[in-house]
Amino acid sequence: MITENLQKAINDQITAELWSSNLYLQMSFYMAKEGWDGAAHWLAKQAEEEKEHAVDMAHYLIKRGGEAKVSMIDVVPQGWGSYAEVFEHVYKHECHVSELIDKLVDVASAEKDKATQDFLWGYVREQVEEEATASSIVDKIRKAGEHGLFYIDAELAKR
Ligand code: FEO
Repeated sequence: MITENLQKAINDQITAELWSSNLYLQMSFYMAKEGWDGAAHWLAKQAEEEKEHAVDMAHYLIKRGGEAKVSMIDVVPQGWGSYAEVFEHVYKHECHVSELIDKLVDVASAEKDKATQDFLWGYVREQVEEEATASSIVDKIRKAGEHGLFYIDAELAKR
């Protein structure tokens, strides 16, 4: 059985994952409106992935005898500027998520809940990939220049 404290911390993370999902969905709409269909597709997939994170965490809580909650999700930003700025924001946001997951591991550790620590290590590892992927997209955008963006956008469409 999971402790109340840890259950609350995981439910807060579920809220954060759903907020991330909405953030990426809004970014996807923004890029679609700007005519960048590849980026819009990539971001929509990212939004789905964040929702999956929330759902997986909820199922984990339920398995441990806890209660999963969908709380109110705050509004997300609406506009980002250039192609590069959108993906710089994605990278920054993933770094922020990594910090949240690290703090969640600290809570599980303080509660001496080994199973939850083990469960969360999967997310810690995944964040390494998420940060690296976003950072590499930002690097490519910077190197590509204005005309190279069409190539980047075609690559992002393959996700
Ligand atoms: Fe749910 Fe991108 O981390």
